[in-house]
Amino acid sequence: MTAILSPSILAADFSCLADDVQRLEKAGINDLHLDVMDGHFVDNITFGVDVIKHLRAKTKMNFDAHLMVENPDKFLSGLKNAGVNSVTVHVEACRHLYHTVEMINKLGMQGGVVLNPATDFASLKYMAQDNIIKKVLIMSVEPGYGGQSYLPMSTQKIKDLANWRDENGYEFIIQVDGGINLNNIKTVVEAGAGDIVIGSAMFKNRELEKNAADFKNVLGI
Ligand code: DX5
Ligand code: ZN
Repeated sequence: MTAILSPSILAADFSCLADDVQRLEKAGINDLHLDVMDGHFVDNITFGVDVIKHLRAKTKMNFDAHLMVENPDKFLSGLKNAGVNSVTVHVEACRHLYHTVEMINKLGMQGGVVLNPATDFASLKYMAQDNIIKKVLIMSVEPGYGGQSYLPMSTQKIKDLANWRDENGYEFIIQVDGGINLNNIKTVVEAGAGDIVIGSAMFKNRELEKNAADFKNVLGI
């Protein structure tokens, strides 16, 4: 059983962010999940392009930006210049979703779509046919805050999405975000998720190497 582990720095101690990211990189983590929030699409505010740009100079990890902002289009070229590799946008935040995902791809990043817990993947039917969606992120909590509990219905949603993808020969990866811990990560990977975001369970204490190793051990990777 294999999957990408994507620590979310939302739960990190920002006073030592670069050090902690480098510790995770040395522990064999290759992907970093960056939750950009604007206080409008969600209540919370986090960080933007400038913080990402400075972090880019400290690590070679893949940078995956999860945009919880209104009108994400205006941030895309800045994110590209800051060294971001993939960007996911919420269905509800985009006025013209197809155009936004296409723009991410044209900038040379991997474009993806985020589904809130109540959002069905049915609306992706036509976009998926055009093969522009590289990733579908299933939110397994409501977006905005770390430390929430995994919504159990998410497991069936992952399975349904994976079946739909495979039946149609689509190739997007399924990412899951919210409430993932050592007890449920295997379930979401078995359901079909290939990229797992881990916030508070990765940064819950200062033992980052042990936390990363524990997740790898559970998956046998
Ligand atoms: C929530 C964010 C998540 C968050 C997950 O809106 O998108 O990436 O960091 O945190 P945990 O793993 O604590 O639920
Ligand atoms: Zn996220």
